[in-house]
Amino acid sequence: MAAMTRILAVANQKGGVGKTTTSVNIAVALAQQGLRVLVVDLDPQGNASTALGVEHNEDAQGVYEVLVGAADLGEVLQPCPEVAGLLVAPATINLAGAEIELVGHENREFLLDRAIQGYLSDVNQAGEPLDYVFIDCPPSLSILTLNALVAAREVFLPIQCEYYALEGLSQLLRTVEMVRAGLNPNLEVTAIVLTMYDGRTRLASQVLEEVRAHFGPKVLPTVIPRSVRVCEAPSYGQSVLTYDPSSPGALCYREAAHQLHTLTALSNSGTR
Ligand SMILES: Nc1ncnc2c1ncn2[C@@H]1O[C@H](COP(=O)(O)OP(=O)(O)OP(=O)(O)O)[C@@H](O)[C@H]1O
Ligand SMILES: [Mg+2]
Repeated sequence: MAAMTRILAVANQKGGVGKTTTSVNIAVALAQQGLRVLVVDLDPQGNASTALGVEHNEDAQGVYEVLVGAADLGEVLQPCPEVAGLLVAPATINLAGAEIELVGHENREFLLDRAIQGYLSDVNQAGEPLDYVFIDCPPSLSILTLNALVAAREVFLPIQCEYYALEGLSQLLRTVEMVRAGLNPNLEVTAIVLTMYDGRTRLASQVLEEVRAHFGPKVLPTVIPRSVRVCEAPSYGQSVLTYDPSSPGALCYREAAHQLHTLTALSNSGTR
């Protein structure tokens, strides 16, 4: 049987909802459990690369080089220095130009898919299959995000517990439908995580209820609390799991990772 690698696009076109924090911390938690994990930083801001402590200055090779065909994915990967079993495809500022450069490129929605599938088939042949690929998307529905939605089987959706949380979601869900209808019929929103929860506000618990009513069991039971340690960690080039492993944020991300991992058994009907 072919190795089964779960490929998840961590997406929400709304900015600052916790996409990067979620990608990074869930990936670290799974790698710390002994799984083999790749984080693809698809955001020119390079926040995931920063948090995972990998080089991503202008001279570093990254996802940009992969998309424009100047490098293979395997050539740009860097190991996360803090966590064994975790690889990172860094984003440099060059990626900001990709949008324009790829206009008119044939198959421009499939570039990341090809790169990831090529890499996965290499590591499978080498007997070192990956368990997870997380693609940290930028806050837009650009060609970069489209590449992620075509490359992934699952959409992992972080939602911030605040008033405007559900606004704009319909746009993302429509985009997912559009991708399903044409470019990637296997795509599915499989998991939702609520982030930056502040239990002291009524609003936060209302958002929580509303999201659970709407999405049911796709919503991970564990909610990520708003926590200072979570937002401090990246400035030390770390995830909260390595920066302060016993903080509430770290505990919750570890639980959420476990829940995401066990979702496989329930919903894993895809073939890729
Ligand atoms: N649980 C949390 N508690 C406190 N701060 C958090 C938490 N999660 C994320 N943050 C902070 O909120 C900000 C936005 O988070 P993050 O960068 O993960 O969102 P994003 O969706 O990736 O943003 P962008 O759309 O810009 O890529 C960051 O400063 C981050 O440190
Ligand atoms: Mg981000």
